[in-house]
Amino acid sequence: MLLDIKNLHTYFHTDTGLVKSVRGVSFSVPENSTTCLVGESGSGKSVTALSVMGLLPKPQGRLEKGHIYFNGRDLTKLSSQEMRKIRGRDISMIFQEPMTSLNPALTIGYQIKEALKVASPKAQDLDEKILDLLRLVDLPRPEKMVKAYPHELSGGQRQRVMIAMGLANEPKLLIADEPTTALDVTIQAQVLCLLDQLKGKVGTSILLITHDLGVVAEMADYVVVMFQGRVVEKGTVFDIFDHPAHPYTQALLAARPSIQFSKDHFESSLQSVKVEVSQEEINREEDFEILSLSSTHTVSTFANPEGRKIHGPGTLKS
Ligand SMILES: Nc1ncnc2c1ncn2[C@@H]1O[C@H](COP(=O)(O)OP(=O)(O)OP(=O)(O)O)[C@@H](O)[C@H]1O
Ligand SMILES: [Mg+2]
Repeated sequence: MLLDIKNLHTYFHTDTGLVKSVRGVSFSVPENSTTCLVGESGSGKSVTALSVMGLLPKPQGRLEKGHIYFNGRDLTKLSSQEMRKIRGRDISMIFQEPMTSLNPALTIGYQIKEALKVASPKAQDLDEKILDLLRLVDLPRPEKMVKAYPHELSGGQRQRVMIAMGLANEPKLLIADEPTTALDVTIQAQVLCLLDQLKGKVGTSILLITHDLGVVAEMADYVVVMFQGRVVEKGTVFDIFDHPAHPYTQALLAARPSIQFSKDHFESSLQSVKVEVSQEEINREEDFEILSLSSTHTVSTFANPEGRKIHGPGTLKS
């Protein structure tokens, strides 16, 4: 298994109290696959990703409990120096807000070169490699592009630069956190298509965080559904779309428009998805029961009072 997250708990110790953002998350990302992480705003998707990257905002953000195995190595046990070596070389991340991740004062070429130097600090003659990367993500006139500054690029072009930087060292895992939300629908489709092609070319597995179930249907091999800092259901894309077992997953899928709505409408319909769950249950500390519906498909009894009566394709472990 490439990435195996076990019982991850990540909390924020803030002035106004403790925020339990991720509470017992477990899932894995197999090699050569795309796993989509979905769930409502604030469910803990980005915090899960930042925990894997070792990039939690310090000192408030803390990984309290659990393990993150990457190729069998527990990342939670590594020093920040060892983590730095893994970041950008074995695992890289495209962040939710591309504008804040590119330095406005440095050229595109310089920033890609810095990304390449993470893996090979002493490498010379990186110029050709930079051009290759820009060609790989289909940016026009790469020779001109290397000298450009971020503000001279369109949103879609900046996103491609981010992808080029993310792929610079051919990481085994690319974490993409809502990589296309800032883009219009056509460009969004192009960028996602590009990511999918690169998976084949570079052999990178992708952990894709998205609100958009249309994207999930297109891209995912596996789906992990988060709700209130926990995983409520996970399985193959077919398990989740054909036999959604958790009320939250069912509500998400039911809110998916059957015809193509405008992006705004689509997103607002997803935002309104709610399942009834008491504060008492949300606050509950003990582990929730995980029911196996098949060898690939599991559902949690959290926020699922009917948990034991789930009608799935497989046999229930009760
Ligand atoms: N730096 C922080 N300090 C305090 N709380 C935080 C911090 N970052 C995130 N949180 C809290 O952790 C929870 C999970 O946040 P997270 O960013 O992972 O949500 P998300 O699922 O990525 O949502 P979105 O879809 O809106 O990006 C939220 O309640 C959020 O307020
Ligand atoms: Mg997020």
